[in-house]
Amino acid sequence: MSTPDNPMPRGGLTRPPNLDVNLDVSGMVDPDGGLVDRRIFSDTQVYQQEMRRIFARSWLFIAHEDQFKKPGDFFQTYMGEDPVIAVLNKKREIRVLLNNCRHRGARVCRADMGSTKNFTCTYHGWSFDLDGNLANVPAQEAYGENFNPADWGLVSAPRVESYKGLIFANWDENAEPLEDTLGDMRWYIDAFMDRDPEGTCVVGGVTKWVLEGNWKLAAEQFATDWYHVNMSHASALMVMSPTGKGPKKEIAMRTGRQYSDEYGNGAGFPVHPRNRFDAQPVHEYYDYDFLRQRLSPEQVMGPLTNGHATVFPNFSYLPVNGSIRVWHPKGPNKMEVWSWTVLDKSMPEDVRHAQRLYNLRTFGPSGIFEQDDGENWSECQANAHAFMVGNTALNYQMGLGDLREEPGFPGQTSSLYSDAAGRAVYRRWRKLMATPAWHELRNADEDSKNPNSDCNGGCTHD
Ligand code: FES
Ligand SMILES: [Fe+2]
Repeated sequence: MSTPDNPMPRGGLTRPPNLDVNLDVSGMVDPDGGLVDRRIFSDTQVYQQEMRRIFARSWLFIAHEDQFKKPGDFFQTYMGEDPVIAVLNKKREIRVLLNNCRHRGARVCRADMGSTKNFTCTYHGWSFDLDGNLANVPAQEAYGENFNPADWGLVSAPRVESYKGLIFANWDENAEPLEDTLGDMRWYIDAFMDRDPEGTCVVGGVTKWVLEGNWKLAAEQFATDWYHVNMSHASALMVMSPTGKGPKKEIAMRTGRQYSDEYGNGAGFPVHPRNRFDAQPVHEYYDYDFLRQRLSPEQVMGPLTNGHATVFPNFSYLPVNGSIRVWHPKGPNKMEVWSWTVLDKSMPEDVRHAQRLYNLRTFGPSGIFEQDDGENWSECQANAHAFMVGNTALNYQMGLGDLREEPGFPGQTSSLYSDAAGRAVYRRWRKLMATPAWHELRNADEDSKNPNSDCNGGCTHD
């Protein structure tokens, strides 16, 4: 029945089976041939199916543990398009609650972040405690004796797990553990999040901005695309080069690796024995010999600094400037970017300051690199809905077949200049889009037991 730990409680309600029609979209991506149908970025039905079959069952990034210091500290964010509140309860556990009153559906929390004793809905005053239990109902006697507040708590994500300070939640209580879905990607994340024995912290709040583009354009680029760097960011590279003339040729084509896996995670990075951080105070702060011992020589040569990464579906990061970000989907044509700066806890104040400014200057909303990427995504999105454009396949064939297992770099790798991780993103996307999710299976099961249902147990809501 309706309890906070039972996502999507529906009581005796049923729905007509074709209200949510799931399409077989398997033919819209071809990870083996490296082709993508443009309509996956613009079609509303495909987008709605992504909400049901990808976002409702994947591990989604919520917040950094450092954002919660004492019970009652909360942060409001989204899982897909669903508003959620992450809050530290009295047992110092993070709860992730659907920010949606069980009475008429208003949000029970409207602040971006803060600290509270409870969440009181401003419509009729239902009030919920830090675990989402319904704690107070004005004029409760009007509901009669059979009203049980325990049935009307906020829906809460049944699974909340962290890796190296990064909190993720999942609506599927039977989901594979977070660490299993990160797999070998953990080694690449560690090069960013495990440099300091004290761990990491966040500084400067969360920066948010809206882009005209499908969420996958950003997610796949951060998984797979070093290729765009020299062309898209030519002016930024020119500004940053010591001569002011831009990168030399040998810097332009860099040697590196790209990681990809069956879960759709991806990371790419140049590899160089004298790898270093871009911001000078940060470079001077780090003891690279210590990092080689704490991590490994390969992590210091590779994913420690420059590079890009995506944890499927919509969490990405950039180690060199400590940027972590979520691409919140806002319809097929729009995304909202939420970005944090992550730093090592041991960093002194002046180094923190330098890294935060470096992040804002390069990848803040007006950053010299971020501007280029947003422009590209809105450009790709602008005409995706047009007929001829929408019927013309896109090319993801760079490095087709170039996959290797390599000593020192866990998992499956390819060249830095490759679409391998992009193809892996769409392989995972295709698999999830074709597989009924936990809620579909449960709804079918409930309908089969419900005497009022017309489904007679035969419908699958497909
Ligand atoms: S909608 Fe929240 S109390 Fe009525
Ligand atoms: Fe870029």
